Amino acid sequence: MPAESATSSPVRQPVAGQNQQPEIHLSHRWKWSSQQAISFLMQQGVENPDVISLAAGLVDPASLPVAETRQAVQELLAVPARGRQALQYGTTAGVEPLRRQLVQHLARLENVEPDSLGITPQQIVVTTGSQQLLSVLSEILFDPGDICLVAAPTYFVYLGVLEGVGARAVPVQTDNDGMRMDDLERQLGLLEQAGELDRVRMIYVVSSYENPSGVSLSADRREQLVEISRRWSRENRILVLEDAAYRELRYDGPELPSVWSFDRDRSSVILAQTFSKSFAPGLRVGFGVLPQELVAPFCDRKGNEDFGSASFCQHLLAQVLAQGQYQSHVEEVRRACRIKRDALLQAAEQYLAPLEGVSWLQPHGGLYVWATVPEHISTGFDSPLFQHAVQQTGVMYVPGELFYAGEPAGRRRCQMRLSFGVEEPDTIREGIRRLAESIRAITSYQSVTSYQSVTS
Ligand SMILES: Cc1ncc(COP(=O)(O)O)c(C=O)c1O
Repeated sequence: MPAESATSSPVRQPVAGQNQQPEIHLSHRWKWSSQQAISFLMQQGVENPDVISLAAGLVDPASLPVAETRQAVQELLAVPARGRQALQYGTTAGVEPLRRQLVQHLARLENVEPDSLGITPQQIVVTTGSQQLLSVLSEILFDPGDICLVAAPTYFVYLGVLEGVGARAVPVQTDNDGMRMDDLERQLGLLEQAGELDRVRMIYVVSSYENPSGVSLSADRREQLVEISRRWSRENRILVLEDAAYRELRYDGPELPSVWSFDRDRSSVILAQTFSKSFAPGLRVGFGVLPQELVAPFCDRKGNEDFGSASFCQHLLAQVLAQGQYQSHVEEVRRACRIKRDALLQAAEQYLAPLEGVSWLQPHGGLYVWATVPEHISTGFDSPLFQHAVQQTGVMYVPGELFYAGEPAGRRRCQMRLSFGVEEPDTIREGIRRLAESIRAITSYQSVTSYQSVTS
């Protein structure tokens, strides 16, 4: 929660000489967005290039679609009029050829005919990655102090977005089926008792292969979530933001219906999707399906930012979807990522299983494995384990505490996110071996120091 009391006027330094300028005033928005962990993580990656990264949430580099993209660019530019259109500004909500293709794309994912989706292309907004959708949406929905319920743990960059608009993220407990609906109702009840129900704007869920835990919201809970959001919508509508970033990266396990599909009149759930994971993050194309009455407010705000995401990338993606190579490419990405996931899980069996108190979840998709070490071992950036892993054995992970909303004191500190997207299978195995070495080193160091402190 940002400091409500933060002063809006800068503390100005006395002007001592001609060359000395008064301080630059920075806004509350900046203060609320400063010191995000993502910057520290990126910096660690750059400063330690030899370290094996089980931290970066990047997609498999080898399966990036160079050939498909080359063909699409050539076709796009083969007809000068089309080329010029792609090189011109587009519209704020997104270019028409892509929005039309997106209706077909969504229908395929939902396993229905396009006509049965119950939406028009006008309800689809195209954004610069789905990150921009999350960010612009949060700007139009939250005033400082408004509330968003989130899973504990959840996507930490979105927690940063909420902080950046002054919103309060209230954590909801999870288990192996995702956000617990009994705890969601309990939290809503507590907020009602505190007279704060009217500040609740949204419930945010990463429905499939959550970043970081890899778990998916079960089908039952998807339906319940929509029902709960409606039942608790009293003074204002409580929306659900379904972040389906990893939806297409399914390796095994059932294909689940979207939360959005249970919102029959398309009034409560916002569906956020992206082509970053299934095609190419460098294109930065994401999209959202919004309730009708949110489209204009969304475009008002997005208009202030960019009056339209890169038109060229949108035309390119429309071409990719039209030329029919998208599906086979996604199959290829799934195949490559499944191999990497299996490499990580096999290495975990080999190297982590023998360590007492170490466990992990087995994801059916996505890019992450969520691991837990004994409660007394902290995994944070300044912990002995993180330092040892980066400096001694040469492996990096993302500390689990970053993924929890709420007061730092209440966060679990003994977990970590292990990504299998970037490194090759052999390197992933070596990374897990090194991680096990660091955990073993810290465990024995801690038992020696506690033995010494008891005996001295
Ligand atoms: C859960 C989740 N949502 C959204 C995003 C944003 O991705 P993009 O902006 O590339 O679509 C990410 C990126 O890693 C993510 O993990």
